[in-house]
Amino acid sequence: MTDVFGLSHKDAGPVNGQAKHEQVVFCTDERSGLHAIIAIYNTALGPSLGGTRFYPYESEQAALADVLNLSRAMAYKNALAGLDLGGGKAVIIGDPATDKSEALLRAYGRFVQSLGGRYFTACDVGTYSEDMDIVARESSYVTGRTLANGGAGDSSVLTAYGVFQGMRAAAEHVYGAPTLRGRRVGVEGVGKVGHRLVDRLVEDGAEVVICDVSEQAVERVRQLHPGVEVVAGRRELTDADIDVYAPCALGGALDDDTVARLRATIVCGGANNQLAHPGVEKQLADRGILYAPDYVVNSGGVIQVADEIQGFNMDRAKAKATQIYDTTLKIFASAAKDGVPPAVAADRLAERRMSEVGRIRGIWLGH
Ligand SMILES: NC(=O)c1ccc[n+]([C@@H]2O[C@H](COP(=O)([O-])OP(=O)(O)OC[C@H]3O[C@@H](n4cnc5c(N)ncnc54)[C@H](O)[C@@H]3O)[C@@H](O)[C@H]2O)c1
Repeated sequence: MTDVFGLSHKDAGPVNGQAKHEQVVFCTDERSGLHAIIAIYNTALGPSLGGTRFYPYESEQAALADVLNLSRAMAYKNALAGLDLGGGKAVIIGDPATDKSEALLRAYGRFVQSLGGRYFTACDVGTYSEDMDIVARESSYVTGRTLANGGAGDSSVLTAYGVFQGMRAAAEHVYGAPTLRGRRVGVEGVGKVGHRLVDRLVEDGAEVVICDVSEQAVERVRQLHPGVEVVAGRRELTDADIDVYAPCALGGALDDDTVARLRATIVCGGANNQLAHPGVEKQLADRGILYAPDYVVNSGGVIQVADEIQGFNMDRAKAKATQIYDTTLKIFASAAKDGVPPAVAADRLAERRMSEVGRIRGIWLGH
């Protein structure tokens, strides 16, 4: 049996006090084993866009909580990236290593299609461009496809580029020049995003210190940049004499302990959800550490895949990702003016754009 049913935000229940989603859809196809949830936080700026996470959640409730939080975060990210897109996200419950199949992905694609363009999907944890090619056989609302299929390919290219633009803005704000030349930058996690960020930093003349749990990832950087220093882990990196800390591994890097010990004056990295809990943004500000909000500086990836909707053009996407520099500076200025941490200023700017630009759709266009 295959069924899909929409839940009102009230039925979905509040998650972290958020009960504002426009639409939450549960998608089930027993034969292929598909159990997915698509959440649309809002469409104030346009159709929602966000990736599909394929993950072995412990329960449907855990998957629901994740997709509600992630779709809300996408609304804020897309708003500050200057995109005419709302916030959405999807989760497929299961182990991508064993449960992923052509039938499952195509069944999922049909549910995406059934939303009529209210939700565009893309890659996330557990899904790859090749998977999006399969989903796209059943749906027109798919981004993050392979280059061979007209897609934007690996989004970490512009994610890393955007993080670098955000870091240049932070350097301008703190040191008065938009360059990392002569600064020591600690990069935690040199995977797809982190290793590309290291390339940019070395090119700019920064001294780079890295750590990664994967010896292979470290070795790739060592081969390309023998001058890069390697330390054992986060503790060694944040205790080191660095000017900038760039979390590019998992979420939650900025916990109480790390913030208390951190010697850097700037935090700017690609990882999602860097603040371990609400209040960390204030601890950073109180210690005089400038935090470049994660969802602002790592929006190059969504800018890259969103460009696919018009027919992918790397130059156009890159020009848009370059604007992350101006947006980050604007957030720092707004934070200073209002006396709030940059993370709060970013949220306010995003909410303002969603409200002000979203409102103009109420202007009647005639027939
Ligand atoms: N790829 C994108 O376009 C994109 C876009 C926006 C945000 N992000 C975020 O950026 C981060 C990195 O993404 P990615 O695509 O580079 O992933 P990735 O898996 O390619 O890289 C992550 C790296 O971090 C390392 N790592 C894991 N745990 C670690 C630890 N405790 N200490 C040090 N290193 C550790 C891994 O070994 C890996 O090399 C993630 O938080 C992701 O959500 C990625």
